[in-house]
Amino acid sequence: MPVEQNITVELGDRSYPIVIGNGLLAGEFDLESHVSGSDCLIVSNDTVAPHYLDAVVSLLPSKSVQTLQLPDGESHKTLNTVERVLDELVTMRANRDVTVIALGGGVVGDITGFSAACYVRGVPFIQMPTTLLAQVDSSVGGKTGVNHTGGKNLVGAFHQPKLVVIDTDTLSTLPDRELSAGLAEVIKHGAIADIRYFEWLEDNMSTLLDRDAAALAKAIAGSCEIKAAVVAEDEREQGKRALLNFGHTFGHAIENCLGYGEWLHGEAVAAGMQMAAQLSDIDDTARQRLADLTSAAALPISPPSIGADRLREAMALDKKVEGKQLRFVLLRSLGDAYVTSDYSEQSLDQILAQASAT
Ligand code: NAD
Ligand code: GLY
Repeated sequence: MPVEQNITVELGDRSYPIVIGNGLLAGEFDLESHVSGSDCLIVSNDTVAPHYLDAVVSLLPSKSVQTLQLPDGESHKTLNTVERVLDELVTMRANRDVTVIALGGGVVGDITGFSAACYVRGVPFIQMPTTLLAQVDSSVGGKTGVNHTGGKNLVGAFHQPKLVVIDTDTLSTLPDRELSAGLAEVIKHGAIADIRYFEWLEDNMSTLLDRDAAALAKAIAGSCEIKAAVVAEDEREQGKRALLNFGHTFGHAIENCLGYGEWLHGEAVAAGMQMAAQLSDIDDTARQRLADLTSAAALPISPPSIGADRLREAMALDKKVEGKQLRFVLLRSLGDAYVTSDYSEQSLDQILAQASAT
């Protein structure tokens, strides 16, 4: 049976399943049974749609289905694009029981989820993520939104999907660099929450890079289980959900300094995780294991040469800064993380110095 995993995000009457397997878009999944009304809008982009849009339409034979193809790219994650999605829903004369389906990576998922949150104050939506990053991270947990000239993901809403459908076959067309970027978030989940999962990744990284379907399904399920548990405990990021930002304070600063798109988000997070590990009070063996696993995933383990001062300024702009105090997710050990503002300034200076322009 192609469905290999079924994980639930436990949020009371807003709980939803994450279905993981292969062959799901090829007809092995009963999508219609998850769509209550008769109208659906599938939102995708011009890279993903040629591969997978027809297959998703075919899963909805008795529904009235409209499709919308957005231009590809983070630069289109804007309010203007949300307006295009809303215009489409208005043109359809969609009512409250329309189902909006996001088919694509995190950019399509974030835009579509936010549009679904806004239309008539919220309609059901389904995530069908097609990048590894979206499958292990952005499609789960209900964070939706778009960028503003004043900052990334500055405009958004919490709006949980009704369902997440992850077909591992979609990863066959994903570029290698995007696969590795997703593996950064997979490694992150192991590092913050589960040493056994981390060890499994150490044993299976080359199999994952070879895109072995069973290994990918297991890694995706492992990550989704960790993320689902965190979200169930702290949906609105009042506490524990902040652990998912391991490596992100440094990573966001790297992205911000380089200009978005120069390094992929996962690449910046990979380097950021090493920097956070250096700031953590853990032994060198644990740091080395994290570095080795990250390198094995074809990801960077040190920051680019952008200068310590610029990096520090960019970190001060991070949404996670509380008052004037930087907050970091640090490791107690591999598989055990905590959030703190109590760190060594001297160590931080040393770590940022590595990013000094040469
Ligand atoms: P992306 O959506 O830009 O996808 C990366 C590239 O891969 C794009 O060119 C896309 O068209 C292409 N692509 C997607 N699926 C493909 C496939 N199966 N085959 C071939 N090409 C494919 O990037 P991403 O890494 O998926 O997501 C990044 C976005 O996610 C950022 O905007 C980030 O802010 C957001 N994000 C959101 C959350 C959240 O919780 N909502 C979490 C993490 C990241
Ligand atoms: N990607 C971090 C979160 O969903 O909270």
